[in-house]
Amino acid sequence: MIECAGLTRRYPNGVTALDGVGFSVPAGGYAAVIGSSGSGKSTLLNVLGLLDRPDAGTYRLEGVDTGRLSDRALSGLRARMLGFVFQSFDLVPRMTALENVELGLILSGAPSRGRREAAAESLAAVGLADRMDHLPAQLSGGQQQRVAVARAVARSPRLLLADEPTGNLDPAAAAGIIGLLEAQNRLGVTVLLITHAEEVARRAGTVFRMEAGRLSPVDPLRLKGRDAYEKRQDQLLS
Ligand SMILES: Nc1ncnc2c1ncn2[C@@H]1O[C@H](COP(=O)(O)OP(=O)(O)OP(=O)(O)O)[C@@H](O)[C@H]1O
Ligand SMILES: [Mg+2]
Repeated sequence: MIECAGLTRRYPNGVTALDGVGFSVPAGGYAAVIGSSGSGKSTLLNVLGLLDRPDAGTYRLEGVDTGRLSDRALSGLRARMLGFVFQSFDLVPRMTALENVELGLILSGAPSRGRREAAAESLAAVGLADRMDHLPAQLSGGQQQRVAVARAVARSPRLLLADEPTGNLDPAAAAGIIGLLEAQNRLGVTVLLITHAEEVARRAGTVFRMEAGRLSPVDPLRLKGRDAYEKRQDQLLS
């Protein structure tokens, strides 16, 4: 799904945020990227999300060399293939949950027929069937993030990119969001998750660490934190 080689991104102020990043994620994979603040994680996500272009290197998305595409073609690819979830939920404040999800579908070019139903279905799937008419301000942080996930997945993306989607949430709400991403992955969606939290990252099949613009693989089993499942197994065995 993702194949990168030598990705470099230098901002005009001289900061080299990506310094020769090469990695790949197979279709249907679930990969996490950890790394300290300022190491280049969001810069990488912006490039992978076709929101920004690298200064050097190649990025193939499902075999397509994105560097050869026009801005217009990139927008089309983004609308067809990608879903985004960000740390700040990014919902339109004056629109209800349902309207926010429907807006995502409109922006991705979905036909009007069946759009509202698809948005409602997506909200129901994240457990918000009874909150569709709420404005973002009338929802908890965790619920707002659920709306953002519903908006991202309503358009059936092939690749779901999440940048610190649990950064603003308490542990229970965070676990709920991670559960939703994992459920998408089980449905066949490729997931790339950026997170500060090692206990979240270690649940992914593949984990990379970003350090000063360079990416290297890490062994998930060496990361700190154990998930609830393992703790429960321990309890049962003791
Ligand atoms: N638009 C920009 N112009 C100039 N420098 C930038 C820009 N965006 C980011 N940077 C710099 O690039 C480096 C990488 O930033 P980036 O946002 O990718 O880090 P990050 O790993 O996502 O950090 P965090 O965990 O805090 O979100 C930082 O040193 C940052 O100051
Ligand atoms: Mg960031």
